Amino acid sequence: MENNDLNKTLQTYRDCVKKLVSAKRYSHTLAVEQQAKKLAKIYGADEFKASVAAILHDIAKEMPPEEQLDLIKTAGVEFSENERQNQKLWHAAAGAAYAKSVLKIEDDEILNAILNHTTGRADMTLLEKIVLVADITSDDREYNNVKNLRAIAETSLDEVIAAYSVYIVAYLKENNLYISEKTKATFNCYSKFNK
Ligand SMILES: [Fe+2]
Ligand SMILES: [Fe+2]
Repeated sequence: MENNDLNKTLQTYRDCVKKLVSAKRYSHTLAVEQQAKKLAKIYGADEFKASVAAILHDIAKEMPPEEQLDLIKTAGVEFSENERQNQKLWHAAAGAAYAKSVLKIEDDEILNAILNHTTGRADMTLLEKIVLVADITSDDREYNNVKNLRAIAETSLDEVIAAYSVYIVAYLKENNLYISEKTKATFNCYSKFNK
């Protein structure tokens, strides 16, 4: 595709997201897209695919839960009984399902980057890492350690994923909240990169 066509495609996806989420989430989406593009450039990933996955990563987040489950079922995306236990995890699978069944995206790299953006998984692809890290370190994020993680993101995606997984597992344990299998797998695979 020509550059112009690629840009048109990206704008179609942005417009589609804009209709389905709040103004605040839409500006988060644009911030994640910018960060994903920047990381794709640094790490030599496909910038178009990084943009598409970033634009669509939260597309299902404000859909009613039942609609999310229907999408997941219809598209037949990977969704374990284990993930069904935590409603917060549904939007990632539902987003991949929407991309696949409504937007007709067939690229597994893009679909998996949307699918795994919240929990991660063991042995992520470069695109999966980029979208997960972009979501944590985008310009609109304001938590304590964000500046530090933003800087680390430019030299090691694994180190950001490590810091995130160590933090999230500790937080979930402390608050007696549910820890999904994929979150555990991410911790087991990446916490060794924590510094
Ligand atoms: Fe999300
Ligand atoms: Fe997000």
